[in-house]
Parts: sequence; structure tokens; C-alpha cells
Amino acid sequence: MLNKQGFNLWADDYDKTVQSSEENDSYPFAGYKTILNIIFNEVMQKQNSKVIDIGFGTGVLTSKLYDNGHQIDGVDFSDKMIDIAKTKMPKANLIEWDITNGLPPEFKEKKYDFIVSTYSLHHLSDEEKIMFLKQLISLLRENGKILIGDIAFENREKLELCQKDNIGHWDNDEFYLVYEEIKSVLIKVCNCDFYPISHCGGVFVLST
Ligand SMILES: C[S@@+](CC[C@H](N)C(=O)[O-])C[C@H]1O[C@@H](n2cnc3c(N)ncnc32)[C@H](O)[C@@H]1O
Repeated sequence: MLNKQGFNLWADDYDKTVQSSEENDSYPFAGYKTILNIIFNEVMQKQNSKVIDIGFGTGVLTSKLYDNGHQIDGVDFSDKMIDIAKTKMPKANLIEWDITNGLPPEFKEKKYDFIVSTYSLHHLSDEEKIMFLKQLISLLRENGKILIGDIAFENREKLELCQKDNIGHWDNDEFYLVYEEIKSVLIKVCNCDFYPISHCGGVFVLST
């Protein structure tokens, strides 16, 4: 699994790696642009919304929202990624923080219209993800939404099929989202919908 140093080393080439995988429609980033566009368009339904991005990376998604007048908070544990994102969003509130420790104290009491996270939550174990999502749900404003775009599958069978097809470069240290499993655990906590976009990616919408 990539740690903070790994992401620091990857930061300068990150956008290029994603582009190549997405253009070849291959695991892991097949559907990346469409997934980010869907989330962008959903946030754009509300003007000047309050948004937090979990694991914003180089700021591909949030910098566009920032340019369109949304107020951006964000957490990421890679200082190199943060440096790149800061050049695009100088006034955003971007905090260096490891989300395996939950949320940073400065964000725990805040409320958001949208909580977005793209290609970051698969770095948490399934158990960590559920605990973290429960924390995030409590930060939503009325009618607020959590929008997650990631490597994700409707069920475990589809994940295993993708794993079989990509056995040579499958990352066994990552924990991809499985809709049926997440939905069954969160059923009493929130509504959970999943929109598959590519053979290995999709968008989750969580709301209360
Ligand atoms: C694959 S990149 C995704 C970046 C961006 N959201 C995108 O869609 O292109 C994953 C990001 O999550 C961050 N990340 C991974 N594990 C993290 C953790 N435990 N705490 C905070 N950030 C983490 C990495 O530093 C990196 O910027």
C-alpha cells in the first residue's frame, strides 16, 4: 500500500498515470474523467456550496469547484500533493492529515453541503471505511450528500472477475468498495446508491 512517502514520490507524475490508464479504459482508472464529471455536475447544482474533499490529491476535481465559487476544505496526508493543489486553490483550507485517524479536529464541528472523495477511500480497510463514512455522514447539512467516485463494484463477484482479468497488476493492498456490502452495513444510517460507470469504477451517493 502506498504510504505518505509513496504519494509524495508519485505526485508530479500522478495526473499523467491517471490519464494513461483512463485513456486505455483499463484498471484502475477506467472511467476516471466521467466519474469526476458526474460529481462535479452534482455539486454544481447548488451555488457557492460548502465542500470538503477527502484525499484531494493534485486537486483535479476540487480546483474546478473552487474556480466555480465553491468553498473548499480538504484533507490529504501527502504534503507534495497539497503543494500542487495549493497552487491551484490558494484560498482553500487544505489540511495535511492521515484519515486512518478519522477527521482532523478543525473539521469535526463543521457542516457541508457536499463531501466528495475520489480514488482515496480504497486506501482504508473495509472496517476503517465504514467507521469513517459514519463520521462523515454526521457532517452533512440538511439535503447534503456524500459523493464518492472510486474503484468500485456492485458485488464481490464483479470485483473478483476484475481481479482475475488484471491479475498481473492487481493491487492486493487496496480495499475496493463493494456496493452490496457497504449498503448492507449502512442501511440503518443513510441512503446509499451506486452508479457503475466503467468495468472497475463508479459513483456512490450517500444521503440522510
Ligand atoms: C489516488 S489519489 C486520488 C487523488 C484525487 N482525489 C483524484 O481523484 O485524482 C489518492 C489520494 O489520497 C491520499 N491519501 C491516501 N491515503 C490517505 C490517508 N490515509 N490519509 C489522507 N490522505 C490519503 C493520497 O495522498 C492521494 O493524494
